[in-house]
Amino acid sequence: MGSGPLVEARKTATARAHSNIAFVKYWGNRDHSLRLPANSSISMNLSALHTTTIVDWNRRLGEDLLTINGKAAGEGTLRRVREHLDVLRRRFGMDAFASVASRNNFPMGTGIASSASAFAALTVAAAAAARFELTEREMSALARLGSGSAARSVPAGYVEWLAGSSHETSFAEAFAPPQHWDLVDVIAIVSREHKHVGSSAGHMTAASSALQPARVASARARIDAVKQSIMRRDFDRFASIVEEDSNLMHAVMMTSRPPLLYWEPLSLMIMKAVRRWRQQEGIAVCYTLDAGPNVHCICLASDAGAVSGRLLALSEGIEVMQSGVGAGAGVMPPA
Ligand code: DP6
Repeated sequence: MGSGPLVEARKTATARAHSNIAFVKYWGNRDHSLRLPANSSISMNLSALHTTTIVDWNRRLGEDLLTINGKAAGEGTLRRVREHLDVLRRRFGMDAFASVASRNNFPMGTGIASSASAFAALTVAAAAAARFELTEREMSALARLGSGSAARSVPAGYVEWLAGSSHETSFAEAFAPPQHWDLVDVIAIVSREHKHVGSSAGHMTAASSALQPARVASARARIDAVKQSIMRRDFDRFASIVEEDSNLMHAVMMTSRPPLLYWEPLSLMIMKAVRRWRQQEGIAVCYTLDAGPNVHCICLASDAGAVSGRLLALSEGIEVMQSGVGAGAGVMPPA
């Protein structure tokens, strides 16, 4: 690309972003190309799960390059990242291709989402490497264009993604810092199989469910209630709405055309056990599931050991990962 004298042939930066788990889910878009969601959503960042990405804008390159965990990325992933780099190039006035090296600290192929942390880290690293300053809002909105949930991995701690009605008004912001409430996500991995239908394809089918309008119309009430229960550290109220919202999203998935059934028998077994542990044993834990069979068991930090032990005792087929509340996306010092 570009010609003429080169003052600086290469511009490099490294950024890290954490994954997040939604308490009120994003499912379905009002505008697919801008990734404007059908409803606002709420999440917390996950401190233990992160992506670290190096972006090198390099005028000597003839195309964008991407490695993930040291290996060249597959065609679909490469295409999606190149499209996002095109968006960033336009915004930053950048005329070079990029070499992108991305590493996840969590095992791939566990069904644990990586697009949120990946597109947040990519956006922050690309902006820093271009020496382009952005507000947190605009960074979040830009990350959203790569993957909707990436908008929520930009701010720190407990976050709301405001659905908005345009690119500029659809961004995430923090409403409580990580240290506000010591929640832990104990993730029960029940299957390492790759998702049959990923989120991007799933968002397209959401509108075909007769239940989606009801889910969307009632989302604001659940967001207000979840935010209030987090601010008051009221676990029982939090638990009942988080489980209801997960069930609502899966009801939409199951009634879409074609139907999406993400639950495995073990997922249902865990959901029932979690309710039993809360209601009969007084353990502060509730469940939520994304577009896959793994069960996120959200609990108070003081109950995380008990939850993890009980999950492992339920079945040999269950593996467990654990994470507290995470920071926002940020630039890392050069290695
Ligand atoms: C079920 O953000 O992964 O995890 O924008 O197509 O990348 P794309 O979708 P994505 O969707 C997340 C869906 C969810 C619920 C949630 O995290 O809110």
